[in-house]
Amino acid sequence: MRSFANRTEGFEDSIFAVMSQKAAQYQAINLSQGFPDFDGPEFIKKSACDFINKGANQYAPFAGVKELRSSLADLYKDFYDLSYNADSEITIVNGATEGIYATIQALINPGDEVVVFEPVYDSYVSSIKLAGAKAVPVTLKGPNFTFDKQELENAFSHQTKLVIINSPHNPTGKVFSTQELEMVARPATKHDCFVLSDEVYEHLVYDDVKHIPFASLEGMKDRTITISSAGKTFGLTGWKVGWCCASDDVIDRIRKVHQYITFSIATPLQFAVAQGLKEIKSYLVEFRSCYQSKRDLFMQGLEELGFELPTPKGTYFIMLPISQKTELDDIGFCEKLIVENKVATIPPSAFYLNSEEGKKYLRICYAKEDETLKKALSNLQGL
Ligand SMILES: Cc1ncc(COP(=O)(O)O)c(C=O)c1O
Repeated sequence: MRSFANRTEGFEDSIFAVMSQKAAQYQAINLSQGFPDFDGPEFIKKSACDFINKGANQYAPFAGVKELRSSLADLYKDFYDLSYNADSEITIVNGATEGIYATIQALINPGDEVVVFEPVYDSYVSSIKLAGAKAVPVTLKGPNFTFDKQELENAFSHQTKLVIINSPHNPTGKVFSTQELEMVARPATKHDCFVLSDEVYEHLVYDDVKHIPFASLEGMKDRTITISSAGKTFGLTGWKVGWCCASDDVIDRIRKVHQYITFSIATPLQFAVAQGLKEIKSYLVEFRSCYQSKRDLFMQGLEELGFELPTPKGTYFIMLPISQKTELDDIGFCEKLIVENKVATIPPSAFYLNSEEGKKYLRICYAKEDETLKKALSNLQGL
């Protein structure tokens, strides 16, 4: 009898694919999947076309093209005062997703434990399972998605090898403060763990809030693997150009894994991202104000509909508390909104391992044209 690998047991289609399929089936406005419904900036797309036409079309070096690694080293120094050696401490991967998978494969043994914060980005848990390890969740509790210090400390054991933190956080839109990150740093240091810091939304922070890279905390750089991606920053999620920054011994291990997953990443896109990063300061002004105004438009609409929630300070997601409006759980209410209101969202209970907290919310992505957001709000009238 033919059978499949045990390690894939329990893997299902991701909730994002399922909801997008339903959105199409019911012709609902799709506020579920986390990407913009508008295109990325002209200057970087043109740059990619130029590199293709100039012949940058063969395999890139497996560590990534030097131009991109150097642009990243400059950016980390300039923005965060973090020094990474472009040759030995930065590697380019196929989006943050591959960076997360390769890092976990490089660091984690079967039987190890990995502390994660729930709601948790789904690829962490699958990557941990594929490594034969166990995800140990700490729950972020609404409405401000804070965690309990004792619960965090209790999550660590002699088996804990890694902590994964994501700030700004998908799906809550929370940006962790220095004080909160330091609360994570303490047990990570005590148990001598690595920290994977997923910072793909690092430039999507609003109002007076600042993104704090975990590696910038005192004494944390050596144990931290910082992962980010051009997909969110340039609104080009289909390009899948991501990177890992860490100490040279860790990067060496990650590269050893990466060479057998994808080996190298699309050459012209790497060159174009390297160019794009050179113009990032002026680009970010417009980029942030565009997303902040979308957040404000959508939040105002939700308030007019009678929802009460704190304003999220980062990413392009809102966790909408639904118990003010319905007795249904997240899955039931999500179905109702698709079928009756023609608006697709994500039921976040899929992002929780232990807690029932997710049943009280829906995740909404507001990285959409203003007209799309207005139409969705109008469909939600009368809730
Ligand atoms: C928290 C988080 N990490 C990683 C990723 C994946 O990034 P990439 O598209 O660069 O693989 C996403 C994408 O939605 C995300 O939300």
